[in-house]
This record gives sequence, structure tokens and C-alpha cells, in this order.
Amino acid sequence: MTQSIDSHLNEERLFPVPETFAARAHLDQSEYQRLQAEAERDPEAFWGTLAREHLLWEQPFSRVLDQGEAPFYRWFTDGSLNVAKNCIDRHLQGAQKHKAALIWEGEDGSVKTLTYAQLHREVSLFANTLRGEKVESGDRVVIYMPMVIEAVVAMLACARIGAVHSVVFGGFSAEALKDRLEDTGARILLTADGAYRGGKIVPLKRHADQALLREHEHQVERVIVLQRTGTDIDMLDGRDLWWHEAIAGQSAHCPAPALPAEHPLFILYTSGSTGKPKGILHSSAGYLLWAKLTSRWSFDLKEDDVYWCTADVGWITGHSYVVYGPLANGATVFLYEGAPMYPQPDRFWSMVERHGISVLYTAPTAVRAFMKMGDSWVKKHDLSSLRLLGSVGEPMNPEAWIWYRDVIGGGKCPIVDTWWQTETGGHMIAPLPGVSANKPGSCALPLPGISAKVVNEQGEEIDAADQGGYLVIDRPWPGMLRGVWGNPERYVQTYWGKFGNRYYIAGDSARRDKDGYFWVMGRIDDVLNVSGHRLGTAEIESALVAHPAVAEAAVVGIPHEIKGEAVSAFVILKAAHQGDDHDQLSAALRAQVTDLIGAIARPDDIHFVDSLPKTRSGKIMRRLLRAQARGEEITQDISTLED
Ligand code: WT7
Repeated sequence: MTQSIDSHLNEERLFPVPETFAARAHLDQSEYQRLQAEAERDPEAFWGTLAREHLLWEQPFSRVLDQGEAPFYRWFTDGSLNVAKNCIDRHLQGAQKHKAALIWEGEDGSVKTLTYAQLHREVSLFANTLRGEKVESGDRVVIYMPMVIEAVVAMLACARIGAVHSVVFGGFSAEALKDRLEDTGARILLTADGAYRGGKIVPLKRHADQALLREHEHQVERVIVLQRTGTDIDMLDGRDLWWHEAIAGQSAHCPAPALPAEHPLFILYTSGSTGKPKGILHSSAGYLLWAKLTSRWSFDLKEDDVYWCTADVGWITGHSYVVYGPLANGATVFLYEGAPMYPQPDRFWSMVERHGISVLYTAPTAVRAFMKMGDSWVKKHDLSSLRLLGSVGEPMNPEAWIWYRDVIGGGKCPIVDTWWQTETGGHMIAPLPGVSANKPGSCALPLPGISAKVVNEQGEEIDAADQGGYLVIDRPWPGMLRGVWGNPERYVQTYWGKFGNRYYIAGDSARRDKDGYFWVMGRIDDVLNVSGHRLGTAEIESALVAHPAVAEAAVVGIPHEIKGEAVSAFVILKAAHQGDDHDQLSAALRAQVTDLIGAIARPDDIHFVDSLPKTRSGKIMRRLLRAQARGEEITQDISTLED
């Protein structure tokens, strides 16, 4: 991380918008300036106009923004709509009905295409299945599934009937699933017998069974299981149903009720600096508007695009940019089920070629991994269909950026580096492809309607170029989170407290250069960014301490060539275990973290130590551990160190 920040500081290259691109873009310089001016003049009128123009309302709204209970902002409150209808039914007119909505490729190479009409049918069948299970508007449904079409169908079926989905990434452990089942209070769990990943099978149903053990405090009464891998599983009588049996005999007609604009759409868990992951709550109209607009603006989505966002639906990127944003725009979305390098490192490029992908949205960690495999894997394929490349998850180091541009994009595609978060619902800062010149490693400028700033410890805007500070948003926007599920105080405290509710505090540090471009430097809290995914040090530490041999643990991030950051752990053993074999213990602790959270959180290295550096007030001094984990000399101020 530090390395990439250093190189960012000296990055002066500028890549202008390709003229041919600008001429055709939805947002060109003049349209962009018009929107900007409108947003400055009257933000509410700006959002109101866009919401009327881009969403299909059942009951039009008369009021744009309700600030009565700020920072619990509410949008379009007296309006109503149906999110699934906006994503599907709206596109059933004329020829668009037979346009491909989803093109899916399995890890085994099988391909399935669903038109909008077919998607409508599948979603209706499953929505009726849920209704048959007495799922009512506002009920929570947890989805723990592979990257298959049915996962998208499940999300949209929930949206259709007003059920609140909470997707749990299939790479998370039984324990992580259990926590989310308990926190949401879901009565229904949707899963699959297994998921294909890198030629192996991830036993999802087995994890689900572990999560559902009787002693746990969940409310699940029904488990619907998709048959995907044919893995031998236990089906519990009276609780478990096969997906194909559950939809058999359902009607393909399912009403799409008008739901209030602020009706909750989904809960998605993300790590924070303290405690367990928090359930980020998003609601219907505002979220959908922002997912739709940003898909259109950032990716310049057009009628004939074949668009591929490589994220799993278990992350916010999959929610906003696999499902809601692109489908609301009537796009053709490509989905891939499996591991990126399976069976060979050219899997992605082979799919880009075979499916004619025109817009590709992926993460720096993937770009670095491909770059490391060498250009020859890419050169085997004709990637001329690509016209735009996107990036998300962490700042992209300039070396990877240039490789992405030249080797993948053939030097002709704009690179859209999108800064945003689970909480923001959609892109916040990004170079609009027809408007902003690219600077490698910078996410450029706030999107129309978004007011982002860098402020100092006192909350004052930093006007000097290149000086770092807190990245904040100083005006509400429709896609913003509506709260933390079941914990309103945590919402206020985490995102607003520090500066007296004046700003939304992203938790990132950033600087702006002389052109106003934003350069994100990283998290300011105890949150790691591993392969573009957030992990709280507190979560990993508590997984380590749960092992009987461990007395205390501290976790820090260390720079990693591919992952951006890797997890490095410092562990103090209990007296009775001081003599235990360290290699064996390391393996056991790594397995423990995998079991309690998931492989993504597994430490790369574990240091056994006698003590941890702490302040006199008992706080672990992570910066010292970080320096030690990185093998740096400790030159920092240690005057507050206790021991
Ligand atoms: C954190 C949000 C948003 C979907 C993926 C992760 C970092 C994200 C960028 C970017 C620099 C970025 C930030 C942010 N981040 N995109 N383009 N440049 N940093 O979502 O798990 O909610 O994580 O990811 O640190 O706060 P998330």
C-alpha cells in the first residue's frame, strides 16, 4: 500500500478522453456541465428531475428529500414503485423483450442465455414460490448461492414481492452465515448443494447445515436448495426443499405491488473497525436511481453493449453493477460462475472474445494477477470488442493501470476507476469516460450531484493541493445507506459522529491535486483491504483468540503484490501452550480463521510473540506492528508505548 501511495505521488501522466468516444457518450462535456450546474443551483430539483425521468413510478412523489431526522435522510417518500418491475417488466415492450438480459457461463464452459421475457418468467415463478412460503413484504430472505442465474433470480424475486434480501458471499464460512442469519432474523434461506470454484466444489449446503444447528439463535424454517453440483447432501424433512420442486407448478404470473420509495430493498454486511460486520441497509427508489444513473454515466451503457462486471453478487458491486444498475438500463449482462484462472490464465480473455464483451468492470487485484501471468495469455485472444474498462476496490497502482490500458484495452479504452463503498450504493467519484481525462491511479472527480471534500481533523476543507485528509461527502445523495440494520446508533456514530453530523465520513483518507482530482490513499480505521474486500482487524483477531491456545492477538495489513494488502497476525500463546509446535499452530490458526470467517481473511503469516506493543490506555499500537511485519526499522514516536 505505501509503495503504491509513493508512486501515486509522483504520477503526472495524463490520458485525454478519446475524441471518438466523447462524440458518442451519454455524458459529454456540455451535458456534464449542464448537470453540474443544475446540481449546484438546486440539488433537490436536480434529483427530482432525474428520478422522474429514469424510474418508472406507480405513484409519483411530490417531495424529493426529507431531512427531518437527519442524518436519517429519506428520499421521494410519498412515491411508490416496484424495483423488479423497473429492472424487468419495463423492458418487455417490443423487440427488447427478446433481448438477452443475462448471458451466463459456468465454470465447466456451459452457457445459458435468458432474455428479458425469460427472466420475467423465472423471477415470477420464484416470487410465487416465496409467496407460497408466506414470505411477506419486509421479511428477510438470506441468499447463500453460487454465481448462477438463480442467484440473480432470487434477488429480483425478493424485490418483486418486497422481501428484503441479504446475500452472503459463497466464500464465507458457516459461522459467518450463522451470524448473518441471526442478525437478519430471516425465516428463509436460499442455497445450493454446492458451488464450482477452481475445479473444486464448495459445499454450500453443508455450511448451511452447520449454520442452522439447533443451538443457534436463528429463525430459519425453510431452506430452498438449488441443485447445481449434484453433491450428496442431507435434506432435512419438513425444512429443506429442492428449488426445482418448489417452482414446479407455480404460476408465471406474479403481481408486482407498488412499494413505498423507502421500502427496504436489501441488507448487506460489511466489516467495520470494531465488532461484528454491520448490516448496511439500502432502500428502494433512491438506491435504484443511483445504481441506474451511475451504470449509465460511468459505463456509458448502450443498447448493443455486452457488459461484464466480474464481481460476485455477494458484494455490493454485484448488487449495483451485476443486477440492479445494468438491468434497470435494459442492458445485456454477462455472468461467470467460477475462478478467474480456471482452467488456464486466459479464461477471462477467452470469454471476452467469445461473448464479445464491450464493457469490462473488474478489480486491481485481478489486473495484477493477470499481469503477473504475462502478456502471452492475453495475446492469444482478440479483445477488440472492448470499448471501456472499469476498476473498483482499491487504488490501482500505475504499473497495473498502464498494463490494463495497453494490454487489455489496446490503448483505446477509457479507464473508469470508480471510488465508492457498500454504504454509498453506487459510484461516487470516477472519471466520466466521455468527460474526464485519465490519470493513472486517480479516481478523478465526483459525479454530478455528489459533493465530496477532503477535510482536516477539525472538519475544515483542505484547500492546499496534495495534502491528505478525511474523505467526506457533504450533501446527502439518493443511493446512500439508510442505516445499520438493528443498530441506529452505530450508523450515526460510525458515519456522522466525528464532525457533528455535518458530513458523511467514508473512513478513507484522500488528497486532491491541483486539478481537483481525488487520490484515495487508503482506510484511516482498522479496516484492511484484501483483494478489494474490506476486513476488520477486530473480526480476525476475535477469530484467532477463539482458539484455545491463544491468549491475545493483533492483526495488521502488509503490502502484497497481488492482493494489495495481506493479513499478518501477531499472537501471544497461553502459558500452557508456550511449548507447542509453531508450524502446527500456524496451520491450525489459519484454518480457524477460514472456518470462522472465510478463506479471504486467512493470515499470510503468523508471528508468535511474548507481548504486544500497547499504549498506556491499553490500545494496541498497530503502526509498530505494521512496521515490524513489513520488516521496517522502527523510527516512529514510541513515547506513549507502555511496554
Ligand atoms: C472501500 C469500500 C465499492 C465496491 C468495492 C468495495 C476502497 C473502493 C476504490 C477505488 C480507491 C477504493 C475504499 C473504500 N475502494 N474502490 N476506486 N479507489 N479505493 O466495497 O467493501 O464497501 O469497500 O474500498 O477504501 O472505502 P467495500
